[in-house]
Amino acid sequence: MEQKIRRIGILTSGGDAPGMNAAVRAVVRTAIGQGMECIGIRRGWNGLVFSDFTPLDSNAVSHILAAGGTILYTARSEEFLTPEGRDKAVSTCKLLGLDAVVAIGGDGTFRGALELSRKGVSVVGIPATIDNDIGCSHYTIGFDTACNTAVACIDKLRDTMQSHERCSVVEVMGRHAGYLALYVGLAVGATAVLIPEREVDFQKDVVERIRQSRMMGNTHFMIVVAEGAGSAPEIGKRIHEELGMDPRVTILGHIQRGGSPTARDREMAARMGYTAVMALARGEGNCIVCTHDGHMVTKPIEQALAETKHLQMERYDVLEAMHAKNA
Ligand code: F6P
Repeated sequence: MEQKIRRIGILTSGGDAPGMNAAVRAVVRTAIGQGMECIGIRRGWNGLVFSDFTPLDSNAVSHILAAGGTILYTARSEEFLTPEGRDKAVSTCKLLGLDAVVAIGGDGTFRGALELSRKGVSVVGIPATIDNDIGCSHYTIGFDTACNTAVACIDKLRDTMQSHERCSVVEVMGRHAGYLALYVGLAVGATAVLIPEREVDFQKDVVERIRQSRMMGNTHFMIVVAEGAGSAPEIGKRIHEELGMDPRVTILGHIQRGGSPTARDREMAARMGYTAVMALARGEGNCIVCTHDGHMVTKPIEQALAETKHLQMERYDVLEAMHAKNA
């Protein structure tokens, strides 16, 4: 017979993402409704290694739905990567009487979840990263907010670029993936978008794009670069060398990780948190909550980690279509 889950630990790990708090709230509220107790594990996997925790009742998660960051703090734990660290984590689970752990984060978080599950601790993962680069899930919490933040910043940049008739080179996050850059590039009507998923031909993708845009009458230009595709200062320098322009370079950086989550991220977080707890309630552990065409599904951790997803290159085609020349 499946062991009844009475107490769960909840942690957020890796880079924070707007909506993590909403996911914590959803897990706590759903768990309480299912007769479970919740313990917040602080500072990611480090909290299990170093026994750093805080009880979480329903009141503890009031008023956090709209807050950016994570009330549980987050970290990328070096210690948890060692066998000794993982043994300590298992001991903490025993000491706290945890029947399961819900881990909210990205790829690294889920690799940690797999290791812990191999030591007999039941773990459920919830994907949260602004990069949207988790292979098993169409969507990750935080992506929409980060896109909106980047768009708001670039809209402001465009105002001053337009006034001064300048070229702007903006670097957005995304680690090794171009989801954020391509989505944002489309949303701001970028002159060019450089992403790691597509080999960059500088002459064709940047120089010719700017030239063509100028021929169409434009006097300011917006180049969006995914951090995985190149460095904005370097690209700005090459634009100067090739076209004699004096581009202004902006690295949006960590501002993209902050802010109150959008409605989409709150809604996703609520559904993912609910799905994670309901999986545990029906005796299903060691899985990742994933979205598939807007629906919530769960996948075994090992299978989920082996899955890959590909950026929809139609989005790039759409971007190209926006630069059609007059006949
Ligand atoms: O994974 C989220 C992310 O913000 C990436 O886009 C970025 O490459 C990385 O984290 C930055 O990490 P850190 O916060 O450690 O500088």
